[in-house]
Amino acid sequence: MGNKKNNIKRPGVKTLSIHHGETFAKDTGCVMPPIFSTSTFKHGNKDNFDYTRSGNPNFRILENILKSIEDSKYCTVFGSGISAVTAITSTLKSGDKILCESNLYGCTVRMFEKIFKKFGLEVLYTDFTNKNNIKKIANFEPTLIWLESPTNPLLKVLDIKAICDEANKLQIAVVVDNTFSTALIQKPLDLGATLSLVSTTKFINGHSDALGGAVLTNNEVWNSKMLFSQKALGLQPSPFDSWLITRGVKTLPLRIEQQTQSAEFISEELENHKKIISKVIYPFNQRHPQFKLAKSQMKSGGSMITLKLNLNKEDTFKFCKSLKYFSLAESLGGVESLICHPATMTHASVDEKTKNLLGIDDSLVRLSIGCEDTDDLISDILFALNKF
Ligand SMILES: Cc1ncc(COP(=O)(O)O)c(C=O)c1O
Repeated sequence: MGNKKNNIKRPGVKTLSIHHGETFAKDTGCVMPPIFSTSTFKHGNKDNFDYTRSGNPNFRILENILKSIEDSKYCTVFGSGISAVTAITSTLKSGDKILCESNLYGCTVRMFEKIFKKFGLEVLYTDFTNKNNIKKIANFEPTLIWLESPTNPLLKVLDIKAICDEANKLQIAVVVDNTFSTALIQKPLDLGATLSLVSTTKFINGHSDALGGAVLTNNEVWNSKMLFSQKALGLQPSPFDSWLITRGVKTLPLRIEQQTQSAEFISEELENHKKIISKVIYPFNQRHPQFKLAKSQMKSGGSMITLKLNLNKEDTFKFCKSLKYFSLAESLGGVESLICHPATMTHASVDEKTKNLLGIDDSLVRLSIGCEDTDDLISDILFALNKF
């Protein structure tokens, strides 16, 4: 799949998301692969499956699709996005330094701070939207650089190529957590990243009914490390979740199209409601501080919108709970719209001082725009706003 040889045109992303190639179901003719619910495999099988902790046909099928949409050489799937974070971080050793963008997903920060620091990992943070900090990477002497773009929940857009160019000169590996965009919106490896990480729980699956993660790379050594982490740390997904995510990813391009169109429209519309919404943050909104970069780096602005409200904590929750089509819930990227209060939910584990410095306060809410009709979503938000 995706073969450029013999002048064969590379299929489009909608085709690649649906055609997964081998189903590992021999000559049954099944169109959808079965769920290979087995912990172990008889030795001597042609695909060298051994034990599900280190590989399973359902993992392989999902990995093949993710590789083809990202156009990467390798992919390893994990039990969650956080398992993928664990897989990468556990390759480091005591004394190594990880240089992070200052705004990352709260549970990634919690893992670095509460788990890996105990084992001697040094964790440093910098604001990568400041160009001077990109030039100063060498001063930190990092072993690994950890980015998200757009970041969770502030939707800062980082210049992935500029950061990777600097890091590559210094031979420092760069991880980009691409959960908010997926390969359909931006391809970190093409921009120079060593590893592209995605929580497949979110957009890739899209139906909020399974957990998963994946790491994609073109680097053979890193690929071996990921396979080793998967089996040695027991970070593998279940065959059933992999099967569900394989089913979900087939509609990823269609969902992203719909969700993005709605998000662009809603973000523009909400600019007209300054009385309650003091700030609309959306990468393709002209007022976004990295608007030009976002336009050049991303195919669309995605479907996450962050709002700063002129409301206190109590009223912010009242607003969240009075929405009909947006459930107040953790997570994002599903067909159903969600609203989240990062300060007390996704970033609850980040210390108060850091949250205040970053601006993740009680008046900040994050919307994940789903696949409902755009009109219904905007009417829902406007109706809730009119209560204040
Ligand atoms: C940017 C980002 N990375 C990683 C994760 C972790 O993914 P999971 O919940 O699948 O472990 C999340 C979860 O919200 C996330 O938002």
